[in-house]
Amino acid sequence: EERTQAIGQELFAAAKREHAHLSVLNRWTQQVLSWCLADPALKGSVLRFIDVLPSLRSPQAIARHLRDYFPTTNLRLPAALRVGSTLAHSGLLTAAAVSSVITQMVEQVARQFIAESGAEGLQRTVQQLASRGATCSLDVLGEQVLSEAEANRYVQQCQQALQQLARATRPQLSVKPSALTPRFDPISPPSSIAQAVKRLAPILQQAKEVGALVTLDMEQYALRDLTLSLAMRLLEQSADGKPTGLGIVIQAYLRDADGVVDRLLQWLTAHQATVTVRLVKGAYWDHEVAHATQRHWPIPVYQDKAETDAAFERLTRKLLSAHPLVMTAIASHNVRSIAHAMAVADALGLPKTQVEFQLLYGMGAALGAAITGLGYPLRIYTPVGALIPGMAYLVRRLLENTANESFLRQEFVAERSPEQLLMAPAVSSEGGASSRSSP
Ligand code: FAD
Ligand code: 2OP
Repeated sequence: EERTQAIGQELFAAAKREHAHLSVLNRWTQQVLSWCLADPALKGSVLRFIDVLPSLRSPQAIARHLRDYFPTTNLRLPAALRVGSTLAHSGLLTAAAVSSVITQMVEQVARQFIAESGAEGLQRTVQQLASRGATCSLDVLGEQVLSEAEANRYVQQCQQALQQLARATRPQLSVKPSALTPRFDPISPPSSIAQAVKRLAPILQQAKEVGALVTLDMEQYALRDLTLSLAMRLLEQSADGKPTGLGIVIQAYLRDADGVVDRLLQWLTAHQATVTVRLVKGAYWDHEVAHATQRHWPIPVYQDKAETDAAFERLTRKLLSAHPLVMTAIASHNVRSIAHAMAVADALGLPKTQVEFQLLYGMGAALGAAITGLGYPLRIYTPVGALIPGMAYLVRRLLENTANESFLRQEFVAERSPEQLLMAPAVSSEGGASSRSSP
């Protein structure tokens, strides 16, 4: 704990030398986040509007939706939105002008979290990251495809991304299993896995040629076991004693994550296989709670943020202790979680090159500089692609950055001190937890 505190203070001090806050946000992103934070009802309207915008085909449709989502009778509407909506209502501003301003605003918010696509844009992004001492894991935006054609397109885009990554250092590609086939469905594991393996085959082959690691992202809880079974099938196929180019993700917010990791370690030992594990907290918290509640099912995720934080620390210790069976990547923007992982790796005597830290594109830029400053490898998860398939991703980032419990929000908006932010997650005697970092 002492070492965690010392490293945490070091990280905060180094990040502060880069920027006043851990994240460096563009103007419109700051504005949209502050609207979301001002009022939960407004947050709902903003997120729904951003979600629908890329599919609106005409300026008239954009102006109509603006009026419907932000009625001027809503007295709590921030001034800028009230003016925009009033002008759209009154006809003083043409629909074309309203839609142009709104589209530019949302595009700027998207640019905060989604990198430029196209060969040149991608090269620029990879070079910019490299100049900051970071590698990247490219993510072609898309999930939950509805047709075979869409899945084929996704595979093609992944192959193009790998081509463009060929000259990058330690390249990585992140793949969403639900984008590989419209039938990635736990109701039929064998055919889901067969379909996904078929679509992954050319991606894995090409990844092998360019020396890239392919990570299967973890999505909703309903797909967790299916995704792990898919990973095990791929690991079995390539179990030739060589390290495999496959990565998987463990979500610490799931109540049953400890058991999953224990079984995974047993399986790896029995099969003499190695794997890279990206440890995350989990990006689908709101979905999991709503989905389970709606169906009167037990909620699969912790409902107290400190319990998730404590689980993340427990799993960090478990995974780092399993080196070299597992290569661990710690993916978090939480300085406490990162400092704890660094302290554990230190205590285990792991060389710094053997633990990787990962951040999402557009989040925690100053924190990234602090991590590389301490001599650890840093990877930035970098989504590329079109806005329509990227909307779900963008909405998750906006939800995350405006959640009460978000570490970045606590640091940015609530301006908590490093001492408060670095407190250990407090687990109560009943097995529950209460966050000491948020009063
Ligand atoms: P923190 O603010 O410390 O934690 C926020 C997280 O705490 C939330 O995301 C949620 O998981 C949890 N939480 C929030 N409220 C509560 C509550 N009331 N009770 C219990 N828990 C709560 N996520 C995936 O699901 N799959 C992936 O494949 C994936 N890949 C990622 C790759 C990278 C490189 C990174 C950095 C993140 C990735 N994520 C992924 C997202 C990740 O799961 C988190 O959503 C995000 O990083 C925020 O967590 P944090 O540790 O940075 O911040
Ligand atoms: C997501 O798509 C980063 O995989 C994570 O939200």
